[in-house]
Amino acid sequence: MQITIYGQASGKSIFLKYVSEDLSMTLLEFLTKNGITIASSCNGQGVCKKCLIQNDWLTCELTLQEFMERQPDGKILISYL
Ligand code: FES
Repeated sequence: MQITIYGQASGKSIFLKYVSEDLSMTLLEFLTKNGITIASSCNGQGVCKKCLIQNDWLTCELTLQEFMERQPDGKILISYL
C-alpha cells in the first residue's frame, strides 16, 4: 500500500509505503515518522491550522485510514513542498 506526496511548489513527488498498523496514526504522525516535514506550531493540537494538505484538510486531525477513505488514490497535495 502506497501514498504519493505531491509538492505543488517543487513539482516533485515522493512515494511512501505503509502497512496496516500505520492506518491508526494521524497523517501528521505518519508523514513525520517518514521524514516528511509538515508545517506545525501547535504539536498536532488542531490550533495552528498550518498542517494542511489538499488545501483544507488538517493532517493532525485525520488518521491515515480516514485519509485513504477520502482520497482512495492516496495522493497528498502539499502547497509549500
Ligand atoms: S499541527 Fe497545528 S493544526 Fe495541525
